[in-house]
Amino acid sequence: MGGRLLEVPLFDTATPLEPLREELRAAVLAVMDGGRYILGPEVQAFEEEFAAYCGAGHAVGVANGTEAITIALRAMGVGPGDDVVVPSFTFYASAEAIPPTGANPVFCDVDPETYCVTPETVSAALTAKTKAVIAVHLFGNLAPVAEIEALGVPVLEDAAQAAGSTGEQGRPGSLGTVATFSFFPSKNLGCFGDGGAITTGDGDLAERVRVLRFHGSEDKVHYERVGYNSRLDEIQAAILRVQLPHLDRFADGRRRVGRDYEQAGLGELVGLPRATPGAVPAWHLYVIASERVEPIEAALTAAQVGCRAYYRTPVHRQEAMRRWAPAVELPGTELAAARHLAIPMSPTLTRGQVETVVSGVKTATS
Ligand SMILES: Cc1ncc(COP(=O)(O)O)c(C=O)c1O
Repeated sequence: MGGRLLEVPLFDTATPLEPLREELRAAVLAVMDGGRYILGPEVQAFEEEFAAYCGAGHAVGVANGTEAITIALRAMGVGPGDDVVVPSFTFYASAEAIPPTGANPVFCDVDPETYCVTPETVSAALTAKTKAVIAVHLFGNLAPVAEIEALGVPVLEDAAQAAGSTGEQGRPGSLGTVATFSFFPSKNLGCFGDGGAITTGDGDLAERVRVLRFHGSEDKVHYERVGYNSRLDEIQAAILRVQLPHLDRFADGRRRVGRDYEQAGLGELVGLPRATPGAVPAWHLYVIASERVEPIEAALTAAQVGCRAYYRTPVHRQEAMRRWAPAVELPGTELAAARHLAIPMSPTLTRGQVETVVSGVKTATS
């Protein structure tokens, strides 16, 4: 998993779960023995526990973090002809989820030091047709949701990378009008397949999400809307319920590794990720910045250290997004795209592994 043959893997989904193996196995077997596989007691219990964890009134399990965005946008009333503002420096799915609603993505810039949108970059992209803004909590950092909602537009938090993060105003999932999560296996809270969730404090919106994830129906007899078959399944929910009580501990581990990188002197060699004001990120990816990113990548690879540039080509320059490419330049996005590099991060990375990574970076920068 995650390239474990390397000296230091880029991510490690196995070691943190080792102490939970028996509990996970028992949870899966209990679902098998219970015979309820779709929308049963595990999903319901996980939805309640996850809503409580996030500090949101409601959570609804869905099939993955991409459909979570499409469904949440539709439940917000986004439809054909509307504009939805989205950063270009993000995983492709943040924008890909917009056209299926009939709306148009309008790309905005990011701050190249926090990798998040700002009220200014969002403001510059607002149009008369803007119906919603997708604020991505990229790499586990927190986008300034309250300041963006103060501009008068509802915010969907794309919190796919930010489970376990927190901030002065609360946790992701409770900061905007609605939030979406991915439980893809490598995420901070990951299942053993695909999974996702939508959280919101608005009971009516949560009800619309429930109908949309279930073929646009409340009873599978009457169909009110054209919806989706997009459900978190019972086995994945059971796996997530075993892990959720440990999420804060895993998040603390990620923060500890961030501090270890700082103490090992990494900040003297390259730019370190900067938390937004008031944010306490559970770094999903630990992303450094440098003008010498290619030699660093080569040195780390030679030292058997996992590293990867995730978004070298930003979304607005991807072939499929050409018709929505903005007329203006996005300088923060271009800078972040050119200079970023993810280096190893997991809750159980050791101090020795951190030192191996930092000495690999040093050979390329000194
Ligand atoms: C920022 C972001 N948004 C959306 C997604 C989509 O989630 P999924 O892969 O579960 O569809 C991901 C992760 O893959 C992501 O990192």
